[in-house]
Amino acid sequence: MTSYFLLKFLHVIGATVLLGTGAGIAFFMLMAHRTGDAAIIAATARSVVVADFVFTATAVVAQPVTGLLLAREVGYSLGEDWIVASIALYLVTGACWLPVVLMQAKMRDLAAASATGGAPLPERYHRLYRLWFAFGFPAFAAVVTIFWLMIARPEIAL
Ligand code: HEM
Repeated sequence: MTSYFLLKFLHVIGATVLLGTGAGIAFFMLMAHRTGDAAIIAATARSVVVADFVFTATAVVAQPVTGLLLAREVGYSLGEDWIVASIALYLVTGACWLPVVLMQAKMRDLAAASATGGAPLPERYHRLYRLWFAFGFPAFAAVVTIFWLMIARPEIAL
């Protein structure tokens, strides 16, 4: 196995984990929220927070590493339009993902407190949920655009 193949293999697996875990987490949080049941929301958010730390965080760190090594291996300049645009979008994704992780942990705690106390979900939970939902759109759009940039490698008039 050549180092190029190994790097590309890891890079594509990392991309799959990023998009797959992100979409999966969004789907299960949405479904749990729609039940309106604080215990279900708390249990789902608990798993989601763990999944983000184990899978997403690993891929978030590994992706630029394998990407930069790939660029060196193939001989691409880091100044290529599609690489510059991808890195910029990657920073956008990170700026959306970090607050989302904190929001999920807070929603987990609020839902767990409601479930324990038998109280309805507080307004703070609903505000966080709306914000969490809104952050998903730019993050998802940025990741899908990175996929396109990586595959098409277009020359862009930046
Ligand atoms: C953040 C810095 C990144 C850098 C520097 C980078 C760099 C690269 C390079 C140089 C290649 C081309 C390899 C080749 O010519 O065979 C590549 C391919 C690829 N990258 Fe990235 N990448 C980055 C992030 C990402 C992200 C965040 C994703 C998706 C979530 C992604 C998904 C892909 C995919 C799917 C390919 C394969 C495209 C193909 O072979 O048609 N990359 N990347």
